[in-house]
Amino acid sequence: MPDITAQTPPSTAVVDAPDPTDEAAIDAAVGNALAAIAAAATLEELKVARLAHTGEKSPLSLANRSIGALPKDQKAVAGKLMGASRGRVNKALAARTTELEAEDAARILVEETVDVTAAPRRRRAGARHPLSILQERVSDIFVGMGWEIAEGPELESEWFNFDALNFRPDHPAREMQDTFFVEPPEAHLVLRTHTSPVQVRSMLERELPIYVLCPGKVFRTDELDATHTPVFHQFEGLAIDKGLSMADLRGTLEHFARQMFGEGAGIRLRPNYFPFTEPSAELDIWHPGAKGGPRWIEWGGCGMVHPKVLRAAGIDPEVYSGFAFGMGIERTLMFRNEVSDMRDMIEGDVRFSEHFGMEI
Ligand code: PHE
Repeated sequence: MPDITAQTPPSTAVVDAPDPTDEAAIDAAVGNALAAIAAAATLEELKVARLAHTGEKSPLSLANRSIGALPKDQKAVAGKLMGASRGRVNKALAARTTELEAEDAARILVEETVDVTAAPRRRRAGARHPLSILQERVSDIFVGMGWEIAEGPELESEWFNFDALNFRPDHPAREMQDTFFVEPPEAHLVLRTHTSPVQVRSMLERELPIYVLCPGKVFRTDELDATHTPVFHQFEGLAIDKGLSMADLRGTLEHFARQMFGEGAGIRLRPNYFPFTEPSAELDIWHPGAKGGPRWIEWGGCGMVHPKVLRAAGIDPEVYSGFAFGMGIERTLMFRNEVSDMRDMIEGDVRFSEHFGMEI
């Protein structure tokens, strides 16, 4: 390995000035300058060459400066030689500058060209989930009839979810719905098993008469499969007014069914049991556009609000009566839009949602 301490450091020292009367030496310096100028490929490199060959410490400048020290008779010859030499270098510099500037301009023109014919790169837009779209469609239909939208908590007190709805503690109907009870037990909290607790909340919170639709999430201890999911959505309808009867319930549901499934749609009520309605009915829909031909499809539950439920909410059943109904949104989407596997609805694959249109 060479001993670098012994090497001469890169020189910043003044270069020996060529003799301004030595035509060959000056020509050599000019030659070097012209070669460096020609070799500069960019304006940056040209700047470096300019400094090296015309700067204060360049051979030609130094030679020029030493003219002053010459005997008088040599001054004129040397002055002429130096003037001409430096002129050649400056001319070459100017020419190369023009050339490189032109190249630069041409390069920028090419690099920054906008191809107006190029296809734009599209940003992939998402899609709204069909459950949200359907929930909004249902809400719109009822808002169109002058109803209001009501909401309630998903973590619900057992009293609202069961007791106030006439499910007594020992009542077997409590077993109808597989409930997620939330610890600690003494808090008496559940994940609501249906949207019916919002009925009671609405009656306690609102002025009479009441016409509300309550869409929302509900929870049951079901395993996830093609037709069950532990988290799903329902919408609940509740009307409380003077003189409401089963005929009003029928008329409302019929109108709703036609809005959702077309003019050919119809409804059918079959006797059923719910603790919070009396009489109670199972609601079937005549689906004219069903896959495989028109048919009856089970859609939800309904009935006249039980007098005990009205009383629990402080409403006099001698003066007011009401009806209620509840349907599942996932189930509605399944037979309305021919979705055969519920799991598709919860996986969140945008390709599934895109089938339902790109409504935002
Ligand atoms: N809450 C009931 C259920 O989830 C449905 C229902 C709502 C029935 C309103 C009658 C009245 O099964």
